[in-house]
Amino acid sequence: MKKFVKILAVVMAVVLSATLLYACGGKDSGDSTTAPAQSDASQTEAPAATNGKLIMATNATFPPYEYYEGDKIVGIDAEIGALIAEKLGMEFEIKDMDFNGILGAVQNGIADIGMAGMTVKPDRLEQVNFSTSYAKGVQVVIVKEGSDIASIDDLAGKKIGVQEATTGDAYATEDFGEENVKRYTNGAAAVAALQNGAVDAVIIDNEPAKAFVAENEGLTILETAYADEDYAIAVAKENTELLEKINAALAELTADGSIKAIVDKYIPA
Ligand code: ARG
Repeated sequence: MKKFVKILAVVMAVVLSATLLYACGGKDSGDSTTAPAQSDASQTEAPAATNGKLIMATNATFPPYEYYEGDKIVGIDAEIGALIAEKLGMEFEIKDMDFNGILGAVQNGIADIGMAGMTVKPDRLEQVNFSTSYAKGVQVVIVKEGSDIASIDDLAGKKIGVQEATTGDAYATEDFGEENVKRYTNGAAAVAALQNGAVDAVIIDNEPAKAFVAENEGLTILETAYADEDYAIAVAKENTELLEKINAALAELTADGSIKAIVDKYIPA
């Protein structure tokens, strides 16, 4: 009996140390390219994801999803992105760029993910894969108070300001014609153009619209919304393993209330 206990203890010690070794190895592989699990992953993943760092491409002109607070990028996407990286055992870095450069950066491996209040849409699905959706967006119309534009139909023949390459740009161009659309590098510039009369309306996502209207006197959002959308995370087509991990992380962060807590922090009810 005594002998049996001793053998059991030895076996347990071996199992335990093997487990510890394994655990350490697993942890290390998070920031080392030499660990076997990691180099296997490098066969299927774009270059940037292999060094244990998750790089998020965004365009930080889009409150409350991504914007600057001092020299730091904050917002719903910045925080959800950081939590996903944490779940994946990876470091996290945000690369700020033009909105229309994000998908290219993801395709080229300059970034691992594109997260920018980005709407899932068919032409983008030809370029990248999207995660499950983590938020809803609505395209709305901002006008000056007292404007004769009271509904979407009244936009006919008016000058419409948009952020270049966004869904607002696509809808405005499709419905009201190229000649009536003025493109700006960010929503704030489009709103400034509305203020100084260069455009008659701005089509943009509802939450940034609310933020811009709150910062600017004399603007209002039309009650009729333009389009409902789903925001999701863009991942390179070949990076299917990362996409699966992100979807699993999103499911966990949804189930434990983390995503709701972040949204509620930036969009108080
Ligand atoms: N939801 C819109 C789109 O996907 C606008 C997103 C703009 N995002 C940004 N970070 N500027 O086209």
